[in-house]
Amino acid sequence: MLWPRPDIATPVVRWQAQHGRQSLPWQQTRDPYRVWLSEIMLQQTQVATVLDYYGRFLARFPDVAALAAAPQDEVLALWSGLGYYSRARNLHRCAQQVQAQYGGVFPTTAVQLAELPGIGRSTAGAIAAFCFAERVPILDANVRRVLTRVLGFSADLAQARNERLLWAQAQALLPSDDLAQSMPRYTQGLMDLGALVCVPRQPRCGACPLQTQCVALRAGAPESYPVRTRRLQRRAESWWLLLLRNAQGQLWLQRRPQTGIWAGLHCPPVFEAEAALAPWAGAGMQHLRPFVHVLTHRDLHLHPVLASGVPPPGEGRWCSAAQWADLGLPAPVRKLLDELV
Ligand code: ADE
Ligand code: SF4
Repeated sequence: MLWPRPDIATPVVRWQAQHGRQSLPWQQTRDPYRVWLSEIMLQQTQVATVLDYYGRFLARFPDVAALAAAPQDEVLALWSGLGYYSRARNLHRCAQQVQAQYGGVFPTTAVQLAELPGIGRSTAGAIAAFCFAERVPILDANVRRVLTRVLGFSADLAQARNERLLWAQAQALLPSDDLAQSMPRYTQGLMDLGALVCVPRQPRCGACPLQTQCVALRAGAPESYPVRTRRLQRRAESWWLLLLRNAQGQLWLQRRPQTGIWAGLHCPPVFEAEAALAPWAGAGMQHLRPFVHVLTHRDLHLHPVLASGVPPPGEGRWCSAAQWADLGLPAPVRKLLDELV
C-alpha cells in the first residue's frame, strides 16, 4: 500500500523553532555523552524528574571516562529513584565499552550507536540526529503516535512487518535540506509534538502544524491511532491421542470437527487428559514418546497412547496404512502413524 507522502518536515521544523522546547539542558549541547545520558534517562521518566537527576549525575560523572571508571554501586546510587535499574547497569556498561572500544569517543553513526548496550534503534537515531545531524529517523512511543495519525497508518504494529513499514515511512519523511539545522530541529519537533500537542487522549489538533494534512484528523479519529493489538500470549495445551489398533493392524480414525485445530482432518480420538482416555484404552496401554507441535498461538503437547481397546462413541472407522495414506491427516499425526507400521 502506498501513502501519499506529505511534507511534514517543513512545518515541524518551523513549529519547533516557534513553539517547541528550547531550553532543556541537553538541548544546549551537541556532546554525545550528554545527549546520550539525557535520552537514556528520558526513556521511561518524565522531563521534570530527569532535570533533577541530570545535573547531579553530570556533576559527579562529567564525561565517559569518569562514568566508566566508577564502581557500579555508585552509579546505581545516583540513579536511585529513577527506576528501571537495568538502564543504569547498561549505562555503565555502555560507558565502559565506549572507553574500551572507541577510546572514550562516542561513534558518530546511528548504526554503530545501536550496537552499544542499552541503545535501541530510536535512541541511536536521536543521538545521531541531535549530535551529528545524521539523516535517520526516531520512533519512540510519542513519535509513533504522531506519525501513525498524520499518515493514517492503520496496520497493526504488533506485527514486526508493519513496524518495519512504519520505520520506512519515518525515514522517507525526514527533511532533505539544510540537515545540520533541520535534523536536530525536526527530531526534537516530533518529540515535542508528541509530548505537548498530539497527546494520547484529546490531542490539541487546533494547535498542530500538521492539521491540514493529518489523515486521522480528517477522518475524525485521532485517538484510534496507533493500532496495536495485544500480542497474543502463547498457550500450552495437552492432547492425549488414543491410537487404537485392532488385530489386523488397522487404526481407529475419526474426522475432526469443521472448526478449530485440524478442522476436517482425520485423526485418532483426542482427549484433554489421560484419565479421560484410559477407559477406552483397555488393558496394556502403551505410552509412546510425547512431542510438541507448535501452532501459531499455542504449543500443543501431544501424548500418544497405543492400545487395543474399544472405539469411543462417535463416527469413525478402522483404517489400514494403505487407507490412511490417502486421507487428510495433520502432518504430525501422519508422521506418528507411519512410525507404527
Ligand atoms: N524525551 C526523549 N527525548 C527527549 C528530548 N530530547 N527532549 C524532551 N523529551 C524527550
Ligand atoms: Fe496529532 Fe491532531 Fe496533529 Fe493529527 S492534527 S498529528 S492527530 S495533533
